[in-house]
Amino acid sequence: MKLYVCKNYDEMSAKAADVVASVITLKPDCVLGLATGSTPVGMYKCLAEMNKAGKLDFAGVKTYNLDEYYPIKASDPQSYRYFMNKNLFNNINIDIENTHVLNGEAPDTDAECAAYDKAIEAAGGIDIQVLGIGNNGHIGFNEPADELVAATHVQGLTESTIEANSRFFSSADEVPKHALTMGMAPIMKAKRIIILISGKGKHAALKEMLSGGITTKNPATILNLHSDVTVVCDEDAYNG
Ligand code: GLP
Repeated sequence: MKLYVCKNYDEMSAKAADVVASVITLKPDCVLGLATGSTPVGMYKCLAEMNKAGKLDFAGVKTYNLDEYYPIKASDPQSYRYFMNKNLFNNINIDIENTHVLNGEAPDTDAECAAYDKAIEAAGGIDIQVLGIGNNGHIGFNEPADELVAATHVQGLTESTIEANSRFFSSADEVPKHALTMGMAPIMKAKRIIILISGKGKHAALKEMLSGGITTKNPATILNLHSDVTVVCDEDAYNG
């Protein structure tokens, strides 16, 4: 793993944006795997600024997001589709038809998930996958468990994730109890992975991942099996 320890959140965001921008510059029709959560917001802001300044072109870029709550309407301000439109897609020159988020209203979730994995393959696979990390080491919504699931699937959310994500809702009761998430296979098949980690709350999960061991109890540790992972964290996350 390549590790960058940045002074603070803003430096982390700028560094991560540079890495993603370089992939787009080298391959203008690349496929990005994208993440939600508060961590990548600063990076999306930097990317939008580069686009506005005429330094980065998203016209040929395709995106696939990691996950979406289930059930949730795309128009719900808590949905990840809404988040992506607001924080990135509405602020860059991407064709919205080229942006993909799992459908939180899909009547047949198994069919939705299988079609998503096929679509990623058909697009040529993900050139760079952006990840955040849960306090418990989850990536996407692949929660710690005895077994992790390879394919994109419906996932029950753990109490700790519901609690952590309740800050975006009016109460923990409002947080959907399920999500659709890319499984470990589409994530690990990405040609390159960048994981952004900020804040003291992520310290334990980060340290365990950097120790090099692999456990399904911390899904991010599986990234140790991938040959091209860049970790961009801030000092709070690194030092605890
Ligand atoms: C959610 C998302 C994850 C994200 C995590 C951390 O649960 N499914 O993809 O990494 O939150 O969020 P935050 O960056 O807000 O700490």
